[in-house]
Amino acid sequence: MNGRPALRLAVLISGRGSNMAAIARACQSGEIAAQIAVVIADRDGAAGIAWAAESGLPTRVIPRPAGSEREAFEAALIDAIDAAGAELVVLAGFMRVLSAPFVEHYAGRMLNIHPSLLPKFKGLHTHQRALAAGEREHGASVHFVTPELDGGPVVCQGRVSVLGGDDEHSLSARVQQIEHRIYPKVIGWIAAGRLGWRDGMIQLDGRPLPAPLCEELTP
Ligand code: GRF
Repeated sequence: MNGRPALRLAVLISGRGSNMAAIARACQSGEIAAQIAVVIADRDGAAGIAWAAESGLPTRVIPRPAGSEREAFEAALIDAIDAAGAELVVLAGFMRVLSAPFVEHYAGRMLNIHPSLLPKFKGLHTHQRALAAGEREHGASVHFVTPELDGGPVVCQGRVSVLGGDDEHSLSARVQQIEHRIYPKVIGWIAAGRLGWRDGMIQLDGRPLPAPLCEELTP
């Protein structure tokens, strides 16, 4: 490691939390110079929050009751993120659309992983849509978050081939394997001070990144 203090992460989830678990393992093994300062879920039943608590990670559940104001919900999120001293916000299957003021508050300090080769298939049901479109390649993208949904600058993509006989389930399982590799890797670059998004440009190792880096899944 490079002698820097571990980068403090707030990981936001809504469901299973397999990306959060992959990130936690990479932190724990020392593969990346980061630590999970808090895992925040927007619902009590999120499977990932139970895993995080059992693993000894600090957890918070911040629900947004139906009909309640988004402002109050996001203010509670900001309080929890800042109280944990988090330096990077990691969206990992967090199923809430965040407002522009929230996103701008964390500009350059918030990442998301999306299960498609952006800019293809923004939004939901990406595996189903990739299959229906007859794509031969599919994958996942790690990007900085901007107010445009799934529209921020992409740092790294992982590709998988779409195989004959693939269904949504088999394709999504292979995409997830590659998600679990690329998300910790990108966080590790930020933790090592190698990657940043400044003045509207991604910089890696002191140079602008002209196109997303790419990783293939090799079976
Ligand atoms: C992943 O497919 C990710 O790309 C998307 O939400 C899913 C979360 O999965 N943003 P998990 O909860 O990390 O298992």
